[in-house]
Amino acid sequence: MTQPLRLRPPWDAPAPPPRALSPLEAEFAARLRPDADLVARVALAREHLVERATALAKELGVPLRKALVAGSSARETYLPGRLDLDFFLLFDPSLPREKLSESGLALAHRLLEAPERRYAEHPYARGRFEGFMVDAVPGYLVERSDAPISAVDRTPFHHAFLSEHLPPERRDDVRLLKRFLTSLGVYGAEVRTEGVSGYSTELLVVLLGSFPAVVKAAAGWWVPQRLCPEGPEPSVMADAALVLPDPVDPHRNVTSALSRRNLSVLILGAREYLARPRAEFFDPPAPPALTAEEMESRIRPRGSTLIVLLLDDPGKVPDILWPQMRKVERSSRELLERLGFTVLATSSATAGGRIAVLVETDRSELSPVRVHRGPPVGAREASHFLERWQSSPGVLRGPYVSDDGRLWVEIPQEPTGILPVTNAALSELSVGKDLREPLARSAGFVPLAEARGEPAALLALAELVDRRLPWVRWGVPHESAGKPVAAAPRGPAGA
Ligand code: UTP
Ligand code: MN
Repeated sequence: MTQPLRLRPPWDAPAPPPRALSPLEAEFAARLRPDADLVARVALAREHLVERATALAKELGVPLRKALVAGSSARETYLPGRLDLDFFLLFDPSLPREKLSESGLALAHRLLEAPERRYAEHPYARGRFEGFMVDAVPGYLVERSDAPISAVDRTPFHHAFLSEHLPPERRDDVRLLKRFLTSLGVYGAEVRTEGVSGYSTELLVVLLGSFPAVVKAAAGWWVPQRLCPEGPEPSVMADAALVLPDPVDPHRNVTSALSRRNLSVLILGAREYLARPRAEFFDPPAPPALTAEEMESRIRPRGSTLIVLLLDDPGKVPDILWPQMRKVERSSRELLERLGFTVLATSSATAGGRIAVLVETDRSELSPVRVHRGPPVGAREASHFLERWQSSPGVLRGPYVSDDGRLWVEIPQEPTGILPVTNAALSELSVGKDLREPLARSAGFVPLAEARGEPAALLALAELVDRRLPWVRWGVPHESAGKPVAAAPRGPAGA
């Protein structure tokens, strides 16, 4: 690495003094700490990976410039049971892109046991080495962290930054924060999770000083929240939730994967933890496995209608598939609302080679009255609309000007069932490119009752019926149940 790290605000400020861990936090910090034997075995595996890759590159004649184990295994900030070695094979930038994965994968396949090809932005390999799971990722060794060629080229700079700025005694704080975020369901930058990445978690501890300080700060955040009050502003998406400039590339927002929904859960979770700190935040109970009957009995009293779209899984990686599943959910909601239904909830899941998109509506057939929303009165089409409707005999109400400044008219319609009307309009559903084919081959929406045998439908249903904030599911601690936090009695009489 030739470029020195030029730090800009907020990273040039001295680290804030850490807050001490509470006894509860200290207990979990000890549980999450890897033991000396594991640390030693990881260190050895890292050394051997680098040695073996360097020697193999010479033997195979590939222009490997640097082999580096980065990520949490290089800094002891992994969670027990979730240890993967992130191994980066960095090549000379003169190597053409198409050769990059070829050379990287050739090396990885010789190095790893039972290697499997995987795809992210470009292919990488996953396999075993000395008993550990290793992701071997090809990239380029670049001079400047703000001018990467591939998505992973900033990694050595990330590792250098954290090696310098995260003192070993703060690793407990990182593991606690990873665990806290995991319990809230907001850890991990994969598209499916839309949470906080491992790197961002470590940066939050560097920036704010400790686990307790991050939680205290998060409890006071807004959505969206900027964490770079004085620094240059990274370019962000319009729907950005948390803005934290990458210290090695300040134009990039490191927390860009975090959704507004998940930031909101984090903020509320932090407040709940401050009010009622408890072990569940580091060791949550397993979510209940509801039987089909239990789900049924929760749904029935709602009197709502559940329909499901089953699609063949096109076999794409989750980061490609999940945005497309979310898009089907969104466009199904839009379609049903256009048809006049009230959509109460949607969910989706994938299992057993199928995708299920579940939609809950308020009714099972069209309303006998259709509210037809016309053009704004200022639009040219307004006069056509009036001519069409003002002397039409079938009109139930209108035309009139509604509060939105448009012409509306209410007309009768056949109270057709939800499935025929929705399926007749299915071509209006906007779906991503990998789901078009499966949609065309599908049977359209079917009643949930017909999809009971589909694991994907049951998964989607389980999420939909049990949707609530994680700590609400864990249950309110006994001693403060039903009492406002600030007024919770502390004396022996109230305990
Ligand atoms: P990980 O996602 O494995 O994060 O990425 P982590 O810090 O090791 O956390 P856990 O403990 O496994 O959950 C490892 C490194 O790979 C780089 C980042 O620098 C990160 O630190 N990376 C990852 C990228 O550069 N781009 C990516 O898309 C993903
Ligand atoms: Mn990792």
